[in-house]
Amino acid sequence: MKNIVLFGGGNIAQAVVEGLINADFKADNIFYIERNLRNQKALKKLKVKNLKKNASIKIDLFILAVKPKDAIDAYKQILNEYKDPKIVSFVAGIKSKKYIKLNQDIQFLRAMPNTSARFNLGITAIYNSSFSKNNLAKVSKLFKKIGIVMNLDSEAKIDTFTGMIGSGPAYFFYLLKSYEKKLMSLCNQDRKKVNAVMVNLIKGVGFSIENNDNLDELIEAVASKKGTTEAGLKSFKSGKLDKTFEKGISAAIKRSKEISNEF
Ligand SMILES: NC(=O)c1ccc[n+]([C@@H]2O[C@H](COP(=O)([O-])OP(=O)(O)OC[C@H]3O[C@@H](n4cnc5c(N)ncnc54)[C@H](OP(=O)(O)O)[C@@H]3O)[C@@H](O)[C@H]2O)c1
Repeated sequence: MKNIVLFGGGNIAQAVVEGLINADFKADNIFYIERNLRNQKALKKLKVKNLKKNASIKIDLFILAVKPKDAIDAYKQILNEYKDPKIVSFVAGIKSKKYIKLNQDIQFLRAMPNTSARFNLGITAIYNSSFSKNNLAKVSKLFKKIGIVMNLDSEAKIDTFTGMIGSGPAYFFYLLKSYEKKLMSLCNQDRKKVNAVMVNLIKGVGFSIENNDNLDELIEAVASKKGTTEAGLKSFKSGKLDKTFEKGISAAIKRSKEISNEF
């Protein structure tokens, strides 16, 4: 996949472009189609190119990264203007059959990245509809540059992925808000210090999991009998925090399914 086009250059497109460039994918080979001036400016800063000004270039892959309301029009535009395009859709909610119906011969797949792609710590789910084995391998290789790739065996799992991993970072930010409140007072309102503490806390959790995949053992390593951690955990358990958290994730998955059914 030499030349790629982001059709729609907003939040997720910019995160993916930054991750690809960090991973040595050449900015010269990344093009965009974007109508929003603010996003055009941000893309120019990343040194990627406007496809309108490079119309004769041979494109290997289109990535649809517009909001669901704009997706079918954008998709039709690609079909009208390019011969045999290969198209990846980042668009939540619109199922493959809706696109395939418009052209049975197209190589099409859905991919769901998240914004941590910007730091090459992304998680991208892929559900293949009609890409050839060879081209699917090339797309997987491309997304592995920005993090982990998960191949899904059913399209419905995209909704589970969206509710758990797409929305996932926000759940952790939400939990961190309780820390932030208490840390502000502990650090005498020093916002920089508070941020640094939160970053190390979360990074430390990540590295701990890298070294030991048994979460109970990791908890045991922190908690001692009749100690502070045990008191905290006991209170979480009696407040059924685990059930509340699971309920939240289930609500997000349900909402993702509802949105899918709206299109
Ligand atoms: N954000 C995420 O974390 C994330 C993660 C995974 C998947 N997604 C999916 O990715 C898609 C994009 O999300 P986003 O948050 O990046 O949206 P966004 O920030 O709104 O970016 C979309 C951009 O595409 C432009 N656009 C729409 N139609 C166009 C057209 N016909 N020609 C040229 N430009 C056009 C929009 O311009 P206007 O502003 O003028 O409309 C906007 O600048 C969504 O479908 C979403 O479900 C997002």
